[in-house]
This record gives sequence, C-alpha cells and structure tokens, in this order.
Amino acid sequence: MQTLNQQTAPQSVLVTGANSGMGRATALRFVAEGWHVVAVDVTEPTHAADPNITSVVADITDEAALSAGVERALMNRPRLAAVVNAAGIFPTSSLTSYDVALYRRIFDINVLGTLNVARVGAKHIGPEEGGAMVFFASVDAFAVSRNQLLYSASKAAVVSLTRSLAIELAESRITVNAVAPGWVDTEGTRRGGRIEAAIPGIPLKRAASVDEIATWVWNLAGKPSYITGETVCIAGGIFMR
Ligand SMILES: NC(=O)c1ccc[n+]([C@@H]2O[C@H](COP(=O)([O-])OP(=O)(O)OC[C@H]3O[C@@H](n4cnc5c(N)ncnc54)[C@H](O)[C@@H]3O)[C@@H](O)[C@H]2O)c1
Repeated sequence: MQTLNQQTAPQSVLVTGANSGMGRATALRFVAEGWHVVAVDVTEPTHAADPNITSVVADITDEAALSAGVERALMNRPRLAAVVNAAGIFPTSSLTSYDVALYRRIFDINVLGTLNVARVGAKHIGPEEGGAMVFFASVDAFAVSRNQLLYSASKAAVVSLTRSLAIELAESRITVNAVAPGWVDTEGTRRGGRIEAAIPGIPLKRAASVDEIATWVWNLAGKPSYITGETVCIAGGIFMR
C-alpha cells in the first residue's frame, strides 16, 4: 500500500543504458515526474547537465564498479525506490556465425548484467518502504527471429529471471517485472531501413516510440502496484498473423 511518505518524499531511480534509446527516454520520464535519476551507462553521458541526474560511467557486467558508482551517486540523495535495467546489446548471431566470444558478450551484458543491476539495486531499496524493478526483455524472447539465436535466448533468460527474482524479492517488498518491446523506433532499428521493412508485418502498422515504452516502464516502476513477475509485451500485436 502506498504511504503518504512515498507519495510526497523525493525518490531516486537507477536507470542503466541511460545514454540512448529507451533507457534515455525512461530517465527523462522519471525526471519529468520529479525523481532523482542515477543514470548508468558504459559510455560518457550525452545528456545536458541536470541537477536531477547523477551520471555513473560503469559497465553492468562489473558488479564491483557498478556498486561503487551507485553508492557514490546515492550519497546525500533521495532513497532508491526503483531500478530499470535498459542496457543491453542485440548483435545478430546464428548457428554458423556464433563463437564463444560473442556468446559470452551477449549473455554477460544481457543476463549477468541484469543480475548485477538487480543485486546492486536491491541493496539500496529499504525493505520497510520497498520498491520496484523493471528489466528489458524483448518480444524475441517469445517469437524468435532469424539471426537472433543468442539474443533471443538471452532475453528468454531475462523473462525467467524476472519471475524468479519476483519471488525472491517479494519479502523485501520489491516488485519485479519486465517489458518486452517489439519494433521500437530508435537510431539502431532505423539504420538500413529495417523498420520500414518490418512495418507491413506489424498488425498496428507502426513501430513504438521510445516515449511510449518509457510510459509502460513508469507505470510498472514509478508507483507501487500489485503486478509482479510479469513480462509485458509492447509489440503492436506482432504475435498474431
Ligand atoms: N530497439 C528495439 O527495437 C528493441 C526491441 C526489443 C528490446 N530491446 C531491448 O531494449 C533495451 C534498450 O534498447 P535500445 O534500442 O534503447 O538500446 P540502445 O542501443 O539505444 O541503448 C543501449 C544503451 O546501453 C548502453 N550499454 C550497452 N552495454 C552496456 C554495459 N555493459 N553497461 C552499461 N551500459 C551499457 C549503451 O552504451 C547504450 O547507451 C535493450 O536491452 C534491448 O535489447 C530493444
């Protein structure tokens, strides 16, 4: 149940992948809602200086570096109430093209990274007040695509982690959910006309905007809710044919 304190006291959210795409849109959405954002990315920050954003340059596969950066960013800042892991990579792979290095890179960032962010975040969310986590899966966890062999498997792992961590963190009053976007209009997906080629196959005949994905993240993480362990597909009906 939401307490008066939760409604009024300033709160912090940890957002990874905050320099680009849906991570950036999510960070800006929380700032617009009056939150302090700990913005983590492996690259130097791209956003304009903002007193409500504390940037941390860290690789989510390195738990110790991530933890130290987040600890510093939260010093004398509002308490951490939400965690959003949007950092992720999506290189193509197939049975003929994969190698051990690519396997490790995709699973390290997409799966181990999700675990590290969850563990670092959970340390800072007080069990008395609780909070929420949102991970980024993908529609590819359910409806696989050609040449996304390892990416799809990594995102299926994120769906499973979401359920397991929802049980584990329920006792700390933390809800854990994921979003599974389909086609989203980002620089990466626009490159080479990929979106235009995909649109005829999407029942709603358009890609999602980064802002509408950020709104779903906000709904799952910005206020206490009774939903936990779920993965919400935001994919314009791409499952149906
Ligand atoms: N773009 C899509 O259409 C789409 C669809 C479904 C799911 N997704 C998933 O949504 C998430 C966000 O996608 P996007 O298109 O907004 O991504 P993006 O490529 O625009 O941004 C990802 C950000 O994560 C950062 N990052 C990458 N590896 C990192 C690491 N090890 N540590 C810290 N930061 C790291 C990058 O520097 C970048 O700023 C990803 O997990 C992706 O798999 C994307």
